[in-house]
Amino acid sequence: MTPMEGIRACVFDAYGTVFDFASAAARCADIPADKRTALTTLWRDKQLQYTWLRTLQGDYADFWQVTSDALDFTLDSLGLASPALHRRLMELYETLQAFPEVAGTLRRLREAGFVTAILSNGSPAMLDAAVRGAGLDGLFDAVLSADAVKVFKTHPKVYAYGLEQLGLAANQVSFQSSNGWDAFGASAFGMRVVWCNRYGQRRECLPGAPDHEVRSLAELPALLAPPGR
Ligand code: LAC
Repeated sequence: MTPMEGIRACVFDAYGTVFDFASAAARCADIPADKRTALTTLWRDKQLQYTWLRTLQGDYADFWQVTSDALDFTLDSLGLASPALHRRLMELYETLQAFPEVAGTLRRLREAGFVTAILSNGSPAMLDAAVRGAGLDGLFDAVLSADAVKVFKTHPKVYAYGLEQLGLAANQVSFQSSNGWDAFGASAFGMRVVWCNRYGQRRECLPGAPDHEVRSLAELPALLAPPGR
C-alpha cells in the first residue's frame, strides 16, 4: 500500500468518530439495560434526520437543540419520557468518552507534522466540553463547528468552511468519519477520505468514494505520507 501523498491536515468528524455517543446511555443507570441499545440507536438516527431535515427546510437550530429534540422523540417512543432522565442524558452527552485509540493517534499524527482538527455538526460549546471532558485538550489545532455556516453536513458549505479556516485545498486534507454518509459527502466534495467504519456499515450508494476504509483510527498514520517529506 502506497501512503497518500500531499496531505497536510487530518480533519475528524466528532460524534461516532472521536467520541463514542453510546457512552451516554451506557453510563445512565436509570435506563433499563435492555433499552440502552434501542435508545442509543433511535436517538442517533433521529438526531441525524433532524440535521438533514432542518438543513433542507432552511430552519437551522444548533446541534444541542437538535440533539435535545431527538432525545424527546426517543424517550417518548420508548415509554421513558421524564424531564430528569432527559436532563441526565444531555449532561452525559456533553462529556462522551473518546474511543480508546484517539489520543495516541492524534499524538502520532502531530509528531509526524500533520495539522489536526475537528469538523463537526456539534455546537462550539458542545465540542469544547467534549474535547476537555475526554482529556484531548491541546491535541487539536482547530475545533470547527458547522454552526459558523448554519447548515449541517453534508451541505458543501460545511466542508468549504473547514478548508477556509485551515487555509488548505480539499486534496490536502484527509477527512476521517465513521459515518458512511459523511465519508461519502466529504469525498464527493473533493477531500481525501478515510472512512473509519467502526460500525460495519454498508457502502453508501451516493456520490463520492472514500480513499480508504479502516476499522480504527489507529490504522490512520500508516496511510499518510508525512507532510513535507
Ligand atoms: C458530527 C456528527 C454528525 O458532525 O457525527 O460530529
